[in-house]
Amino acid sequence: MFVKNCWYVAAWDHEVLADTLLARTIVGESVLVYRKADGTPVAIDNRCAHRHAPLSLGRKEGDAVRCLYHGLKYGSDGRCTEIPGQETIPDKLCVRSYPALERGRWIWVWMGDPARADEALIPDAFSLKHAEWRYKPGYLHYDADHLLICDNLLDFSHLSYVHEKTLGGSPNIAEARPSVQRLARGVHVTREVRNTVPAPYHARLGGFSGQVNRRFAYDFLVPGVLLMHAHVKPADSADDDMSGALQFHSCQALTPETATTTHYFFMQAHRFRLDDATITESIYQSLCTAFEEDRRIIEAQQRLIAASPPRPMQPIAADLALSQYRRVVEQLMEAERVSIVQPPAPRTPGTVASTAATR
Ligand code: FES
Ligand SMILES: [Fe+2]
Repeated sequence: MFVKNCWYVAAWDHEVLADTLLARTIVGESVLVYRKADGTPVAIDNRCAHRHAPLSLGRKEGDAVRCLYHGLKYGSDGRCTEIPGQETIPDKLCVRSYPALERGRWIWVWMGDPARADEALIPDAFSLKHAEWRYKPGYLHYDADHLLICDNLLDFSHLSYVHEKTLGGSPNIAEARPSVQRLARGVHVTREVRNTVPAPYHARLGGFSGQVNRRFAYDFLVPGVLLMHAHVKPADSADDDMSGALQFHSCQALTPETATTTHYFFMQAHRFRLDDATITESIYQSLCTAFEEDRRIIEAQQRLIAASPPRPMQPIAADLALSQYRRVVEQLMEAERVSIVQPPAPRTPGTVASTAATR
């Protein structure tokens, strides 16, 4: 049902402080996320091997965590190291550990075969930590299948209708045909919208009086990570003249909680008026308003789909990117099914493989 051999965003960095024991369900598994004393993140099964109490209700002890039901203690590798009143510790008394890394301001967890965890597969969300960009972090919880949200992000024609009064402003966005390029682990989408009215929030931020050109260019990568450069600039400026442009870079990550619920981590960074915190706040608020517009229609869509007998959806040309992305997901899931038959490569505990980058 999910691609497992990939990095999922488990949390923003500020959600996991030195003493936090964060329980977060990812692809149906309750995962405990915390930090070792040196700050490196740890992800282990949240369910105590003894009587299945949540370790998130336990206590951190150095790099270990103690279950506060009957006192079993687990190391950051998931091995039980102490059973009060018992000398021997059976090997079976352990919880699963997941490769975890912090990159930018996101904590990423590998939910598949640990032997295949490859750092180079972490998408390059560079603006999460970059001196030339500013943003405020956001999170939404969705009562919807993450693929419905992927569909939404892979087709910006909806900006003209769902976001008519916020991010859109004109049917021109839906009328501009995007170019779609398939990648090894996702798709790349580019949409140019020329000679259009500015979106209401761009008009406020950029003070545009006439028509504008808009450009969206993004990678959308498994398991649902959007990395987008976007800009808006006066329509009468030269194509290579960015002096009057509002430039944005957006990082968004969908992490399935269950088959029908999703974590949505998002931000939209700006590269203008960097020292004006009111601009950062205003962009964040505009995004929150717009993303509530998405959530309203997608959750309603999910409810209707769940309540009705299954029937096929009818494709249109605008579905090209989302169809290709769903194909990539199906192929990766199929490859995982096949690889389960093969024994995994041996792995040294605590290591994460690193190879050449693959988008
Ligand atoms: S349930 Fe955790 S120690 Fe018993
Ligand atoms: Fe949207």
